[in-house]
Amino acid sequence: MSSVVQDAQKAGQRVGLKSDKIVINGGKPLRGRIEIRGAKNLATKAMVAALLGDTPSLLKDVPDISDVGVVTGMLNAYGVSVTEIAPGELLLDPSNVLKAHFAEIDALAGSSRIPILFCGPLLHRLGEALIPDLGGCRIGDRPIDFHLDALRAFGAIVDKSYEGIRLTAPNGLKGAQIELPYPSVGATEQVLLTAVRAEGVTELKNAAIEPEIMDLIAILQKMGAIINVEPNRVIFIEGVDSLDGYEHRALFDRNEAASWASAALATEGDIFVGGAKQQELMTFLNIFRKVGGAFDIHEDGIRFYHPGGTLKPVVVETDVHPGFMTDWQQPLIVALTKAEGVSIVHETVYENRFGFTDALIAMGANIVVHKDGLAGYDRRVARREFEQAAVITGPTPLHGADVVVPDLRGGFSHLIAALTAEGRSTISNVGIISRGYEHFIDKLALLGADFIYEG
Ligand code: EPU
Repeated sequence: MSSVVQDAQKAGQRVGLKSDKIVINGGKPLRGRIEIRGAKNLATKAMVAALLGDTPSLLKDVPDISDVGVVTGMLNAYGVSVTEIAPGELLLDPSNVLKAHFAEIDALAGSSRIPILFCGPLLHRLGEALIPDLGGCRIGDRPIDFHLDALRAFGAIVDKSYEGIRLTAPNGLKGAQIELPYPSVGATEQVLLTAVRAEGVTELKNAAIEPEIMDLIAILQKMGAIINVEPNRVIFIEGVDSLDGYEHRALFDRNEAASWASAALATEGDIFVGGAKQQELMTFLNIFRKVGGAFDIHEDGIRFYHPGGTLKPVVVETDVHPGFMTDWQQPLIVALTKAEGVSIVHETVYENRFGFTDALIAMGANIVVHKDGLAGYDRRVARREFEQAAVITGPTPLHGADVVVPDLRGGFSHLIAALTAEGRSTISNVGIISRGYEHFIDKLALLGADFIYEG
């Protein structure tokens, strides 16, 4: 592993510090081939699932990102040994699960939201769970009410204290009837990870059905769980007494794939994303094509490129699967600053996910964020009164600027913007990007970007 990448990872552990930065000389198309591995939003959950097994689990294609480091630290604190037996292959052994000291968990959990998913497995294994304040990207309130309501439905007792949330289950966990107010990814995972070993049958309505959830269900089935995915977002889980370990190759990271695709388009480049697959990206590919991007599907990946000509504006709403993912809009918006005409992106998943556009505006983009959405706009998904819409009018050439990364996906869009911009940009707080983009510094170098990384 290169020292540059080790530095980037160290930086990732220091999320929140603004000392790490990258200086980019923009204007060069990104060209070349990069490889992507397992999805951040699956691998981390799969690692938590290993806590439920009576025997060790083997997870393959685990990305080298700091969120995996956070979950490794937490598993270690609970007595689960995590050993990298080959590059990207983690052996997770839960045979010595023990109670961790709260201070230890608190120190480790600070920069991630995954700890909330430890609740069910810990209640099954130890009879109690202590969850500190959660980190993760600052992209709205990101409450955990769906999680706690679901855990209560299983029979958990939730006590909130100044240190965090303490959960106990004096009478064990029992299967439950749960209907989520919204198909939340995390809350669906919470229910799955809890119901598989709860006594009796759980019926989950309005479940999330993202590919990462389906991959988690596949893992749980390998472990011995009985889970039926029914039509209309209904999932039945029949609890079992015990689960074994699993062996599994993680689903590829479709968010990373879509990010590099947008980078190819925005920089007028040509990137082969090794490991990307068509099925999980279909909705993205449609929009990519409508904007004017081209792609070739290969067995071992997808080539994304700018075929020449002008880019076209689009109207997009982010949504739950199979809709256009909220994590895809930030890199795409950079490409939309190059499209001829007015594009509209409505964010319906999070209430505060356009903060990153301030930096794009500072770089010369014409973006107006409507904090309450667009009045009278015929919405396909009318979810909340506080939905936001970004109106992007292009084309606007971007120029270099000094910007600070606010969150993971926004940060990646800043990188792309700087790569397309005329002149020099300094982007601070880039360590946050290593939470979800494996070896992104190395990949930028591989694709011919002109930059200096100062860890
Ligand atoms: N929500 C609640 N209450 C809850 C849980 C969620 O109101 O108890 C709301 C959230 O505030 C949000 C919406 O429901 O407005 C959707 O949240 P969801 O639970 O689906 O998201 P999540 O599980 O916290 C995961 C990914 C996100 C991704 C979303 C949507 C992980 C670790 N994170 O978050 O990924 O955007 O699903 O697909 O899996 C990222 O990778 O950068 C990222 C933020």
